Amino acid sequence: MKYSLEKRTPEKQQSDCIVLPLFEDLQLSPESSYIDQASSQSISTLIERKDFDAKAGSTMLLDGNNTSHTRILLIGLGKQDAFNAATLKKSMVAAANTIKKTQTKTALVSFDGVSLKDCSQSWLMRFAIEAINDSLYIFDDFKTTKADKSELNTVSFYCGDSINSAEAEKAISEGSAIAAGVSVAKTLGNLPGNICTPTYLATQAKEIAKNNSTVTTTILDEEKMAALGMHSLLSVSAGSEEPAHLIIMEYKGGKESDKAHVLVGKGVTFDSGGISLKPGESMDEMKYDMCGAASVFGTMTAITSLKPNINVTAIVAAAENMPDGKATKPGDIVSTLSGQTVEILNTDAEGRLVLCDALTYAEQNHNPASIVDIATLTGACIIALGHHTTGLLGNDDALADELLSASTEAADKAWRLPLWDEYQPQLDSNFADMQNIGGRPAGTITAACFLSRFAKKMKWAHLDIAGTAWVSGKNKGATGRPVPMLTQYILNKVN
Ligand code: BES
Ligand code: MN
Ligand code: ZN
Repeated sequence: MKYSLEKRTPEKQQSDCIVLPLFEDLQLSPESSYIDQASSQSISTLIERKDFDAKAGSTMLLDGNNTSHTRILLIGLGKQDAFNAATLKKSMVAAANTIKKTQTKTALVSFDGVSLKDCSQSWLMRFAIEAINDSLYIFDDFKTTKADKSELNTVSFYCGDSINSAEAEKAISEGSAIAAGVSVAKTLGNLPGNICTPTYLATQAKEIAKNNSTVTTTILDEEKMAALGMHSLLSVSAGSEEPAHLIIMEYKGGKESDKAHVLVGKGVTFDSGGISLKPGESMDEMKYDMCGAASVFGTMTAITSLKPNINVTAIVAAAENMPDGKATKPGDIVSTLSGQTVEILNTDAEGRLVLCDALTYAEQNHNPASIVDIATLTGACIIALGHHTTGLLGNDDALADELLSASTEAADKAWRLPLWDEYQPQLDSNFADMQNIGGRPAGTITAACFLSRFAKKMKWAHLDIAGTAWVSGKNKGATGRPVPMLTQYILNKVN
């Protein structure tokens, strides 16, 4: 898709479809008024008849009449005082959903008269690009009859003449890069577990290095991990025919001597629960248990295209959790790379077991400036925050605040939960240094408490994306979250 900023007013341009946003007060912007007049009052007539209410997400497609545009698409933005990034995204998804059913190849979106609170005008484009990408995303690799692809190939934006061009270009390139990263994360998430194995993820990481001179990829196999002492990570893949891999991708945009910011992704390519087997219903959704890793791949994709002057290291702990004669059993005790021992009371609490060794590996080998892990870690996080909000925990207030700001700016919601010491005793074990479960109360917090024991020497944050990484039900699919937040977090460090 080609996105661009247009400085010429819409009446001086031609397109297959002009998109005109309207608030519920139904006041036409100067450009909408012009189109209205040129089209024999087609818009004001509709408004007078109360045929279009401009509720957020509503659309109405009209003939372009005598204007220089083949079609006119009205989109509702809802109430002006309630307008925010989420409503803008909803409206733009609705617009793209309508456009993709037509033969429209070129669209012009007029943001004249529209502004977002606390944001400059260019953010409208950024969010619109992400929304259009969401709407046009198709995953039909495994369908023999392919979905009809949309004809749309060019979207231009008109934002009035006061817009700062440099800022607008930046918004367009950031929006496009984030959109591409979100698509990468969605596709990795959507791939079935028989394709997207730990080895597949390792191959993808090598591809990224092959295509980008700024990235080097290193893969540790099971033998190497065993030699290092990563027995916690290896306990998860013990029952699987698929070998585990530790995948390291280093992006060097900064000085050689700059410490890297590290992103660690949970890459459990299928989580059956292991010997603590999960119930059968919806077990297929546990193919998404690598969405933390997918978000790391997506963020690296965005970063390699934007090339910020910063060093970012991605580490993916990739394993498959299966029951088998060789599988880890409840009660088994393993030693971690850190030297601490863990009594595994539930083999379904495997995410923390792969992540703890990845955290220690990062600490020992990469001396991180900061470290953020991203994981579909606990069902409890869905109970706490539902499907709208990512859980954020960590040991460094400044880092947590940076992530929360990035989350707000990127319209990719997150909320911090406490990590107070009072919760730590829930992990006490009779036989080892700790056990891997903390009982039912505060499951998201005790999971983070477990990880915190491996991140003591680092500025560390943890994102629990169990509720936000995919949607269930009829429109089942990965969301690509939290690629927007993570990319913004990295960009904010250089901007
Ligand atoms: N991958 C799951 C968490 C999960 C469950 C994410 C449902 C999204 C939807 C994780 O490995 C897991 O099984 N966690 C257990 C932990 C428990 C055994 C302490 C859980 O949440 O039930
Ligand atoms: Mn599990
Ligand atoms: Zn899991």
